[in-house]
Amino acid sequence: MKASAEEMRAAGYAAVDRVVAHCEALEGMAAWTGARRAELEDLELGIPDGPRPAAEVIAQVEQEILHYMARPAHPRFFAFVPGPGNFIGAVADFLAQGYNVFAGNWFAASGPAMAELRTIQWLAELVGFPQTAGGLFLSGGSLANFTALAVARDRILGEERLGDGVVYYSDQTHSSVERALRLLGFARRQLRKLPSDDDFRLPVALLRSAMEEDRRGGRRPCCVIANAGTTNTGAIDPLGELAAACRTEGVWLHVDGAYGAAAAICEEGRRLLAGIEEADSLTFDPHKWLFQPFDCGCVLLRDGSLLPRTFYSRPEYLKDVGDNAEEPNLFDYGPELTRPFRALKLWMTLQVFGADAMRQGVEHGLEMARYAESLVRKRKDWVIVTPAQMGMLSFRYEPAGISVERLDERNREIGKRITASGFAVVLSTELKGRTVLRMCPINPRTTEGDVRNTIRELDRLARE
Ligand SMILES: Cc1ncc(COP(=O)(O)O)c(C=O)c1O
Repeated sequence: MKASAEEMRAAGYAAVDRVVAHCEALEGMAAWTGARRAELEDLELGIPDGPRPAAEVIAQVEQEILHYMARPAHPRFFAFVPGPGNFIGAVADFLAQGYNVFAGNWFAASGPAMAELRTIQWLAELVGFPQTAGGLFLSGGSLANFTALAVARDRILGEERLGDGVVYYSDQTHSSVERALRLLGFARRQLRKLPSDDDFRLPVALLRSAMEEDRRGGRRPCCVIANAGTTNTGAIDPLGELAAACRTEGVWLHVDGAYGAAAAICEEGRRLLAGIEEADSLTFDPHKWLFQPFDCGCVLLRDGSLLPRTFYSRPEYLKDVGDNAEEPNLFDYGPELTRPFRALKLWMTLQVFGADAMRQGVEHGLEMARYAESLVRKRKDWVIVTPAQMGMLSFRYEPAGISVERLDERNREIGKRITASGFAVVLSTELKGRTVLRMCPINPRTTEGDVRNTIRELDRLARE
């Protein structure tokens, strides 16, 4: 599998040219061109025994593979948490892969480890964590939640008391949290999913009484998972109050800020996220609102030295890498041994554009969500269900004289139709049992025109 310098350049330049053309054309493309499996069965994607010219393969990748997908970086992709990405981040990935960095230990990648430590430090400072903080880059929020909760389990319960521990979170918490807890050995009886209040926040009084009840029953409250920007509505749990409650109870506070922690980069976000700095651990995904290509998640611990206490292992074949706290082996900090150099994309993006550009990008998202809200409010028969918060809003088409069940169906249908048209991706979620449409306009490429035209199109489809 060798290629000459000329072949490598030709393949690399062809790929770069296509990615640049894609980025330039994105705004004029459909936001979604997925396909049913039956439509793709006949594509020639089988594996050949012999070689094919790279240029031909790259052309096929573009036409027959990458064509059939949603475009999370499209300015009118408003579903889930969009992935705006950025070109410099993609270049960083190419560099990291081209050098095939093994970012598992200091011996194998000292320079990359240093850049990762610096980038982690920047993120930790952004959210107001103390000097003791540490962390690492992971594939995304799911693995970051898993990593933080593993440390919480070991710190508060240890092996002996695992069966006594109880974990608390609201019904708005991301599904990855429950999955992580199950993988970490918590039984369902140890999980307390508490109903959120009218603003989709975890009610502190309810939490306190649940903890009290568990203590009376001989169980050990061990961890609270709070949200700094829920996936459904962008709601932020009362972080300061939760931190105080956890402190008095000797309970670990993990904050899932996979999506929302990035808002700490601007003044408005810092105000909204007050209390985040008191968390014991935090999930913070740069591949969401810090505009990194997938994958780029991150976990931060208030006391970084706790990570190796959970994850350290040193089999005979790894003894030579050594142990030196000053020169950490990042495979001791999390569940991955072989790990890519994910930090480079964020580091390079910050170098090339500067932190101010990031701040402006986040502020733009906050503004676009407010703009969308103002437009929905002006439309007859539409109601705002949750106002713009953390760059996200939810709303519903609700003309008089139609049953709520029919309206649920109708709203889901409107989302499916605008998405199938390729004009924009807007999908539904459920809030307190009702179906709503949800928009997360955090892409810096999104213009007022994109938002205006999308809402106009939703209205047109609703009335068809
Ligand atoms: C609040 C929250 N937590 C966790 C996750 C999971 O992150 P990932 O998909 O990167 O694993 C998401 C994903 O959108 C999220 O919004």
